Amino acid sequence: MDAALEVQDLSLSIDGKQIYKDISFSLAQGSFTVLCGHNGAGKSQLLRTLKGLAKPSSGRILINGLDVTRKKKSRLSSIGLVFQDADFQIVGESVEKDVAFGPINLGWSEDRVDKAVSRTLAMMGLEDKRRQRPQTLSGGEKRRLAIAGVLAMEPGLIMLDEPFANLDSPSTMSVLKALADLHQAGQSLLVTSHEVDRFLAHTDRVLILEEGRLVYQGPSKDSLDALKKAGVHVPGPAFEELTWLR
Ligand SMILES: Nc1ncnc2c1ncn2[C@@H]1O[C@H](COP(=O)(O)OP(=O)(O)O)[C@@H](O)[C@H]1O
Ligand SMILES: [Mg+2]
Repeated sequence: MDAALEVQDLSLSIDGKQIYKDISFSLAQGSFTVLCGHNGAGKSQLLRTLKGLAKPSSGRILINGLDVTRKKKSRLSSIGLVFQDADFQIVGESVEKDVAFGPINLGWSEDRVDKAVSRTLAMMGLEDKRRQRPQTLSGGEKRRLAIAGVLAMEPGLIMLDEPFANLDSPSTMSVLKALADLHQAGQSLLVTSHEVDRFLAHTDRVLILEEGRLVYQGPSKDSLDALKKAGVHVPGPAFEELTWLR
Protein backbone atom coordinates (compact mmCIF):
# COMPACT_ATOMS: atom_id res chain seq x y z
CA MET A 1 0.00 0.00 0.00
CA ASP A 2 1.24 3.51 -0.78
CA ALA A 3 2.33 5.65 2.15
CA ALA A 4 -0.17 8.19 3.49
CA LEU A 5 2.64 10.72 3.09
CA GLU A 6 6.10 10.51 1.64
CA VAL A 7 8.62 13.32 1.87
CA GLN A 8 11.75 13.18 -0.28
CA ASP A 9 14.77 15.47 0.26
CA LEU A 10 12.58 18.38 1.27
CA SER A 11 14.36 21.68 1.99
CA LEU A 12 13.13 25.15 2.85
CA SER A 13 15.01 28.44 2.96
CA ILE A 14 13.34 31.74 3.79
CA ASP A 15 15.18 34.93 2.77
CA GLY A 16 18.43 32.99 2.41
CA LYS A 17 18.04 31.38 5.84
CA GLN A 18 17.99 27.61 5.87
CA ILE A 19 14.95 26.47 7.89
CA TYR A 20 15.30 22.73 7.23
CA LYS A 21 17.28 20.63 4.76
CA ASP A 22 17.04 17.26 2.99
CA ILE A 23 14.17 15.90 5.04
CA SER A 24 13.05 12.40 3.95
CA PHE A 25 10.54 10.18 5.71
CA SER A 26 7.30 8.38 5.05
CA LEU A 27 4.17 7.81 7.08
CA ALA A 28 2.38 4.48 6.69
CA GLN A 29 -1.41 4.48 6.36
CA GLY A 30 -2.97 4.60 9.81
CA SER A 31 0.31 5.34 11.58
CA PHE A 32 0.76 7.75 14.50
CA THR A 33 4.07 9.62 14.34
CA VAL A 34 5.54 12.24 16.64
CA LEU A 35 7.97 14.79 15.19
CA CYS A 36 10.00 16.13 18.06
CA GLY A 37 12.84 18.56 18.53
CA HIS A 38 13.77 21.69 20.44
CA ASN A 39 12.12 25.04 19.87
CA GLY A 40 13.31 26.48 16.58
CA ALA A 41 14.19 23.07 15.09
CA GLY A 42 11.81 23.68 12.19
CA LYS A 43 8.82 21.53 13.16
CA SER A 44 6.12 24.13 12.57
CA GLN A 45 7.63 25.26 9.29
CA LEU A 46 7.77 21.65 8.09
CA LEU A 47 4.06 21.14 8.87
CA ARG A 48 3.20 24.43 7.17
CA THR A 49 5.06 23.30 4.05
CA LEU A 50 3.37 19.90 4.01
CA LYS A 51 -0.02 21.57 4.32
CA GLY A 52 0.77 23.88 1.40
CA LEU A 53 1.16 27.15 3.34
CA ALA A 54 4.85 27.47 2.47
CA LYS A 55 6.56 26.52 -0.78
CA PRO A 56 9.52 24.15 -0.39
CA SER A 57 12.82 25.26 -1.95
CA SER A 58 13.42 21.71 -3.20
CA GLY A 59 12.30 18.12 -2.73
CA ARG A 60 9.08 16.17 -3.28
CA ILE A 61 5.89 15.50 -1.37
CA LEU A 62 3.75 12.45 -2.23
CA ILE A 63 0.30 11.62 -0.89
CA ASN A 64 -0.94 8.06 -1.43
CA GLY A 65 1.86 7.67 -4.00
CA LEU A 66 0.90 10.79 -5.99
CA ASP A 67 3.39 13.62 -6.40
CA VAL A 68 1.61 16.71 -5.01
CA THR A 69 4.67 18.94 -4.59
CA ARG A 70 3.24 21.44 -7.02
CA LYS A 71 -0.40 20.75 -6.18
CA LYS A 72 -1.00 23.02 -3.26
CA LYS A 73 -4.78 22.65 -3.55
CA SER A 74 -4.71 18.90 -3.20
CA ARG A 75 -2.47 19.20 -0.11
CA LEU A 76 -4.85 21.75 1.36
CA SER A 77 -7.74 19.32 1.02
CA SER A 78 -6.13 15.97 1.80
CA ILE A 79 -4.04 17.08 4.79
CA GLY A 80 -5.66 18.63 7.86
CA LEU A 81 -3.60 20.89 10.10
CA VAL A 82 -4.54 21.73 13.68
CA PHE A 83 -2.60 24.84 14.62
CA GLN A 84 -0.90 25.31 17.94
CA ASP A 85 -3.25 28.11 18.90
CA ALA A 86 -6.75 26.57 18.91
CA ASP A 87 -8.44 29.96 19.33
CA PHE A 88 -7.02 31.02 16.01
CA GLN A 89 -8.81 28.13 14.28
CA ILE A 90 -12.26 28.65 15.80
CA VAL A 91 -14.60 30.59 13.52
CA GLY A 92 -18.19 29.52 14.28
CA GLU A 93 -20.58 31.12 16.74
CA SER A 94 -21.51 27.71 18.15
CA VAL A 95 -19.63 24.44 18.45
CA GLU A 96 -21.73 22.72 15.75
CA LYS A 97 -21.51 25.69 13.37
CA ASP A 98 -17.78 25.80 13.84
CA VAL A 99 -17.40 22.15 12.83
CA ALA A 100 -19.83 22.63 9.91
CA PHE A 101 -17.80 25.53 8.50
CA GLY A 102 -15.20 23.43 6.64
CA PRO A 103 -17.62 20.86 5.15
CA ILE A 104 -20.00 23.66 4.01
CA ASN A 105 -17.04 25.37 2.29
CA LEU A 106 -16.33 22.09 0.52
CA GLY A 107 -19.83 22.36 -0.97
CA TRP A 108 -21.21 19.26 0.73
CA SER A 109 -24.99 18.63 0.91
CA GLU A 110 -26.77 19.63 4.11
CA ASP A 111 -27.33 15.99 4.98
CA ARG A 112 -23.67 15.12 4.54
CA VAL A 113 -22.59 18.14 6.59
CA ASP A 114 -24.99 17.20 9.42
CA LYS A 115 -23.70 13.63 9.48
CA ALA A 116 -20.06 14.80 9.48
CA VAL A 117 -20.74 17.22 12.34
CA SER A 118 -22.51 14.61 14.50
CA ARG A 119 -19.88 11.97 13.83
CA THR A 120 -16.90 14.19 14.65
CA LEU A 121 -18.47 15.79 17.72
CA ALA A 122 -19.21 12.30 19.08
CA MET A 123 -15.66 11.22 18.33
CA MET A 124 -14.24 14.25 20.18
CA GLY A 125 -16.66 13.93 23.12
CA LEU A 126 -18.34 17.27 22.43
CA GLU A 127 -21.92 16.18 21.61
CA ASP A 128 -23.40 17.80 24.69
CA LYS A 129 -21.66 21.10 23.82
CA ARG A 130 -23.14 21.39 20.32
CA ARG A 131 -25.02 24.62 20.88
CA GLN A 132 -22.51 26.21 23.21
CA ARG A 133 -20.39 29.18 22.15
CA PRO A 134 -16.81 28.04 21.48
CA GLN A 135 -15.48 30.83 23.70
CA THR A 136 -17.11 29.16 26.71
CA LEU A 137 -15.18 25.88 26.27
CA SER A 138 -12.19 24.81 28.35
CA GLY A 139 -8.72 24.68 26.80
CA GLY A 140 -8.92 20.94 26.16
CA GLU A 141 -12.43 21.20 24.72
CA LYS A 142 -11.29 24.00 22.40
CA ARG A 143 -8.40 21.88 21.20
CA ARG A 144 -10.80 18.97 20.59
CA LEU A 145 -13.12 21.33 18.75
CA ALA A 146 -10.23 22.39 16.50
CA ILE A 147 -9.52 18.69 15.84
CA ALA A 148 -13.23 18.06 15.12
CA GLY A 149 -13.26 20.93 12.61
CA VAL A 150 -10.37 19.36 10.71
CA LEU A 151 -11.62 15.78 11.08
CA ALA A 152 -15.05 16.69 9.67
CA MET A 153 -13.46 17.35 6.27
CA GLU A 154 -12.20 13.74 6.16
CA PRO A 155 -8.53 14.41 5.45
CA GLY A 156 -6.34 11.36 4.80
CA LEU A 157 -3.74 12.73 7.20
CA ILE A 158 -4.21 14.96 10.24
CA MET A 159 -1.23 16.94 11.52
CA LEU A 160 -1.26 18.67 14.90
CA ASP A 161 1.28 21.28 15.93
CA GLU A 162 2.06 21.05 19.66
CA PRO A 163 -1.43 19.78 20.60
CA PHE A 164 -0.71 20.00 24.34
CA ALA A 165 0.65 23.54 24.39
CA ASN A 166 -0.84 25.61 27.23
CA LEU A 167 -3.11 22.79 28.46
CA ASP A 168 -3.40 21.66 32.07
CA SER A 169 -3.07 18.00 32.96
CA PRO A 170 -6.76 16.90 32.67
CA SER A 171 -7.10 18.75 29.35
CA THR A 172 -3.91 17.16 28.08
CA MET A 173 -5.28 13.73 28.99
CA SER A 174 -8.57 14.44 27.21
CA VAL A 175 -6.75 15.47 24.02
CA LEU A 176 -4.38 12.51 24.23
CA LYS A 177 -7.35 10.16 24.64
CA ALA A 178 -8.99 11.77 21.58
CA LEU A 179 -5.83 11.22 19.54
CA ALA A 180 -5.48 7.63 20.73
CA ASP A 181 -9.12 7.01 19.70
CA LEU A 182 -8.49 8.51 16.26
CA HIS A 183 -5.41 6.34 15.83
CA GLN A 184 -7.44 3.30 16.84
CA ALA A 185 -10.07 4.24 14.24
CA GLY A 186 -7.34 4.08 11.56
CA GLN A 187 -6.64 7.80 11.11
CA SER A 188 -3.08 8.69 10.00
CA LEU A 189 -1.61 11.22 12.43
CA LEU A 190 1.51 13.38 12.60
CA VAL A 191 2.03 15.49 15.71
CA THR A 192 4.86 17.79 16.73
CA SER A 193 6.07 18.20 20.26
CA HIS A 194 9.10 19.57 22.06
CA GLU A 195 8.51 16.95 24.74
CA VAL A 196 7.44 13.39 24.08
CA ASP A 197 6.68 11.82 27.43
CA ARG A 198 2.96 12.11 26.90
CA PHE A 199 3.03 10.63 23.43
CA LEU A 200 5.48 7.83 23.41
CA ALA A 201 3.18 5.12 24.77
CA HIS A 202 0.82 5.75 21.85
CA THR A 203 2.87 6.62 18.80
CA ASP A 204 4.25 4.09 16.34
CA ARG A 205 7.16 6.18 15.13
CA VAL A 206 9.43 8.97 16.25
CA LEU A 207 11.14 11.58 14.07
CA ILE A 208 13.75 13.85 15.66
CA LEU A 209 14.51 17.19 14.05
CA GLU A 210 17.64 19.06 15.11
CA GLU A 211 18.39 22.46 13.63
CA GLY A 212 16.52 21.64 10.46
CA ARG A 213 18.00 18.16 9.99
CA LEU A 214 16.22 14.88 10.61
CA VAL A 215 18.70 13.13 12.91
CA TYR A 216 16.60 10.06 13.78
CA GLN A 217 13.60 8.13 12.59
CA GLY A 218 12.46 4.80 13.97
CA PRO A 219 9.87 2.90 15.98
CA SER A 220 8.84 4.62 19.24
CA LYS A 221 9.98 1.66 21.32
CA ASP A 222 13.57 1.92 19.98
CA SER A 223 13.82 5.69 20.21
CA LEU A 224 14.72 6.31 23.86
CA ASP A 225 18.49 6.52 23.35
CA ALA A 226 18.13 8.84 20.37
CA LEU A 227 15.70 11.04 22.32
CA LYS A 228 18.09 11.24 25.27
CA LYS A 229 20.99 12.03 22.97
CA ALA A 230 18.97 14.81 21.36
CA GLY A 231 18.10 16.14 24.81
CA VAL A 232 14.37 15.81 24.17
CA HIS A 233 12.20 15.50 27.26
CA VAL A 234 11.76 11.73 27.65
CA PRO A 235 9.25 9.61 29.55
CA GLY A 236 9.33 9.70 33.31
CA PRO A 237 6.98 7.66 35.52
CA ALA A 238 4.09 9.10 33.50
CA PHE A 239 5.08 6.83 30.64
CA GLU A 240 3.86 3.77 32.54
CA GLU A 241 0.78 5.52 33.89
CA LEU A 242 -0.41 6.46 30.44
CA THR A 243 -0.44 2.98 28.99
CA TRP A 244 -3.99 2.49 30.30
CA LEU A 245 -5.08 4.66 27.41
CA ARG A 246 -4.01 2.10 24.86
N1 LIG B 1 8.47 33.44 8.62
C1 LIG B 1 9.73 33.15 8.96
N2 LIG B 1 10.78 33.79 8.35
C2 LIG B 1 12.04 33.50 8.68
N3 LIG B 1 12.39 32.58 9.59
C3 LIG B 1 11.42 31.93 10.23
C4 LIG B 1 10.04 32.17 9.95
N4 LIG B 1 9.30 31.36 10.74
C5 LIG B 1 10.18 30.64 11.47
N5 LIG B 1 11.44 30.97 11.17
C6 LIG B 1 12.64 30.37 11.74
O1 LIG B 1 12.65 29.02 11.32
C7 LIG B 1 13.19 28.19 12.33
C8 LIG B 1 12.24 27.08 12.65
O2 LIG B 1 11.07 27.62 13.25
P1 LIG B 1 9.83 26.70 13.64
O3 LIG B 1 9.46 25.86 12.49
O4 LIG B 1 8.79 27.60 14.19
O5 LIG B 1 10.46 25.79 14.78
P2 LIG B 1 9.74 24.84 15.85
O6 LIG B 1 8.30 24.73 15.48
O7 LIG B 1 10.48 23.55 15.77
O8 LIG B 1 9.92 25.48 17.19
C9 LIG B 1 13.51 29.11 13.52
O9 LIG B 1 14.87 29.44 13.47
C10 LIG B 1 12.65 30.33 13.24
O10 LIG B 1 13.27 31.48 13.77
MG1 LIG C 1 6.63 25.15 16.53
